[in-house]
Amino acid sequence: MREDIINLKNNAIGQIMDTDSDKELEELRIEYLGRNGKINEFLIDLKKLKPDERKDVGILINESKKTIESTLNDKIENLTQFKVDTKEWFDLTAPGVKSEIGNLHAQTKVLTEILNQFSYLGYQIADGPEVESDYYNFEVLNFPKDHPARDAQQTMFFDVTGTKFKPGELIPRTHTSAMQGRVMQKMKPPFRVVVPGRCFRYEQIDASHGVDFWQVEGFAVDKNITFTDLLGTIEYVLKGVFGSDAQIRFATTFFPFVEPGVDTYLKCTVCKGKGCSFCKKSGWSEIMPAGMIHPNVLSTCKIDPKVWRGFAFAIGLSRVVTLKYKIDDLRTLTNPDLRILKQY
Ligand code: DAH
Repeated sequence: MREDIINLKNNAIGQIMDTDSDKELEELRIEYLGRNGKINEFLIDLKKLKPDERKDVGILINESKKTIESTLNDKIENLTQFKVDTKEWFDLTAPGVKSEIGNLHAQTKVLTEILNQFSYLGYQIADGPEVESDYYNFEVLNFPKDHPARDAQQTMFFDVTGTKFKPGELIPRTHTSAMQGRVMQKMKPPFRVVVPGRCFRYEQIDASHGVDFWQVEGFAVDKNITFTDLLGTIEYVLKGVFGSDAQIRFATTFFPFVEPGVDTYLKCTVCKGKGCSFCKKSGWSEIMPAGMIHPNVLSTCKIDPKVWRGFAFAIGLSRVVTLKYKIDDLRTLTNPDLRILKQY
């Protein structure tokens, strides 16, 4: 009898799970749980058993009854829920759910604008590795080992234990200038190239510093390139991005891979030159260092500096974005909150 009860329970569960029809479920309820149903038949047969067997078998019958009941109820509940869903889903007259339309990230928009300006000037776009060698990040660019200018780059180093690399050989690139050597060794001049990309430095994170940031490096090599070509290019691109009334000024600076080197300042768009925390109270924001490519860089890349000349520059992309949208904290750009992102 025990086995019969267990089989009955299993069959009942199987049949309940197999049907999606209300009518069949009601028939199954009557067949198993009704007054003349199979469970009750067992309860009647119970009386035929010896008294010491009755208790255990009785418990088994009751448990099976409960299981069948709850399986049936769950199924009915599921079915009702599903029916409501399907009804709503197929109700063609119900108003639709408006899907949200996303927007490009502020940085993507500004990067596209910048790259557009360069494409009008005939520049090609190159992409390079974020994990860079000491050679391309420094050596090619006229930073000999132990040169103090390396200090300014706040370099992080990969732990290369157990690999073929020597300590210090492999780094997250500190600037997109690292692509100068890679491109110059491959391409034959004349060329004009821009390289947008992410860079990494060991910085204390605050409103105007991050451990990763974006730059757009650019360089042009040709026969008669002059310093004024560089200044004209910078002015053209910045006025293209910030509007023709953007005010720019230059100051000398030093980078080992350019001579002379120049820093470009844009009149602070946040305070319009009055001085605010964003421009460190100076009224001007440093935005685009540049210079004439050092002859050592050209010759290391097997380009004859007596025949060819070039200029190079780097745009601090994150800085341009914050100035353009008057964002006073760089961290806003990496905040994933949609309420922030939707504003730009
Ligand atoms: N790579 C430099 C840095 O991030 C910036 C730079 C300065 C790039 C002068 C240039 C340049 O191309 O000509 O510190």
